[in-house]
Amino acid sequence: MAHFTKATSLHDWLNQRLAVDTLRRVLAKEYWIPKDINFLWAMGMVLAITFGLLLVSGIFLLMYYQPNVNLAFDSVNYTIMKEVEFGWLWRHIHGVAASVVFLIIYIHMFTGIYYGSYKKGRELIWISGMLLFVTFSAEAFSGYMLPWGQMSYWAGMVITNLFSLGDLHMNGLVEWIRGDYVPGQAFLNRFFMLHVLLLPLVIMALIGLHFGTLRIPHVNNQEGEEIDFEEEAAKYKAGKKAESKVIAFANDFLAKDMFVVSVFLIFFFYLVFYHYDFAMDPVNFDPADPLKTPAHIYPEWYFLWSYEILRPFSTNVGLVAFGFAQVIFFLLPFLDKSPNAKPAHKRGLFKVWFWVMLVDMIILTAMGKLPPEGIFSTIGLYAALTFIGLWIILPIITKMEKEV
Ligand code: HEM
Repeated sequence: MAHFTKATSLHDWLNQRLAVDTLRRVLAKEYWIPKDINFLWAMGMVLAITFGLLLVSGIFLLMYYQPNVNLAFDSVNYTIMKEVEFGWLWRHIHGVAASVVFLIIYIHMFTGIYYGSYKKGRELIWISGMLLFVTFSAEAFSGYMLPWGQMSYWAGMVITNLFSLGDLHMNGLVEWIRGDYVPGQAFLNRFFMLHVLLLPLVIMALIGLHFGTLRIPHVNNQEGEEIDFEEEAAKYKAGKKAESKVIAFANDFLAKDMFVVSVFLIFFFYLVFYHYDFAMDPVNFDPADPLKTPAHIYPEWYFLWSYEILRPFSTNVGLVAFGFAQVIFFLLPFLDKSPNAKPAHKRGLFKVWFWVMLVDMIILTAMGKLPPEGIFSTIGLYAALTFIGLWIILPIITKMEKEV
C-alpha cells in the first residue's frame, strides 16, 4: 500500500491516487516530437477530432432514429430533418464528417507512404492504422444502411452478395449475414447494432492501440532521419531548445496541431452549412423499394477505387482482385524491401511508384462513378491492372534501390 500524506490541493489528492503528473509527463510534456515535420503530421489529430464529431453528432441522431424498416426512412428524413430542432445540423455534421474523414484518412495514409513512416520499427503503427481503415470502412457502410433509402437497400444487397464468392455459390453465408433471404428487419437490426455499438468500440480500442504503437518509435520526420530521442530530449530539458532536434508534444507541438485543426474546422463547417449535399446521394432520398432496382448502383466516393478493381473483370477474377485490393496495403512494410527510410523524392524509382499509384487510384475512383461502358470500362480495366502490377513490382524496385 502506497504511503498517503495529507493532500494539499485537489491536484495533489489526484496525483496520489491517479499519478496524473506521471501521465502528463509520459503522454505530453516529455513525449518528444521531431522539429522537422510539416502540417501533414497534424492529420492524425484532425482524424481524432473528426471521430469525436462523429461520436457526438451520432449520439444526438440516436435519440430520434428508429431502427425499423417501416419507420427508419421517415425518422431520418422527416423527424430528424424537419421536426427536431437543429436535427438537420446534427445530421449534416454526421454526414459531412463521415465523408471528410475518408479524405483525411487517405491524406494521412499517403503521407505515411511518401515519408516511409511504416519502416524501421514503425510496422505496427502502419498495421494498426490499416485496421482502423478497414473498421472505418465497415462503420461507414453499416451507417449507410440506416436511413433505409434506395441506395441503402441496394448497396446492402450488392455488397452482401459478394460473400457468395462467385462460383463457390456460398448463398448460405449471404443469408446468414443478412439474417434473411433479402435485406429486411433482421439486416437493419444487426447493422444498426454494428454501427452504434460494436464498431465504434473497436475503433476506440484501435485508436488506443495506434497511439500506443507511436509511443516508442516516435513519429517519423521529413528527412527520415534517425533521431536519438534521449540525447535530444536532454538538450531540450537543459534549456538548449534551439539546438535540440525535438520539441515536447504539449504544449509545443499541440499548439501547431490546433492551428491546423482550426483551419480544418473552418473548411468543415463551411461544407456543413453550404455544401452538405455532396455527402448525400440523391437516390437515397427515395425510400427503399425491393421491387425497383436503381439504374446505376455505386458506392460512396471513398469506396469507388476498390469497387472499380472488382468491376472490369468476370465475377470470380473480379472477386480475387477486390480481395487483393483490400489486404495488400497491410503488407506494405514487408513488400517495400529497401531499408532506406528517406522521403519518396530521394528514393529513385519509388518516387515514380508513389505518384503512379496515387494518380491510378484517382482514375479508378473517377471510373468507378461512371457507368461501366465503352471507353470508361477500358480505362477502368487498365487502371485496375496497373494497380495490381504496381504491387507486384514494388518488392523488385525497392530491392534494386538497396543495391544502388
Ligand atoms: C481515424 C483513424 C486514425 C487516427 C485517429 C490516427 C491518428 C494518428 C496520430 C495522432 C498520429 C501521430 C501524428 C501524425 O503523424 O499525424 C498518427 C500517425 C500515423 N498513422 Fe494514424 N491515425 C488514423 C488512421 C491511420 C491509417 C488509416 C493509417 C494507414 C494505414 C495510419 C498510419 C499512420 C502512420 C504510418 C503514422 C506515423 C506517421 C509518422 O511516423 O510520421 N493511421 N496517426
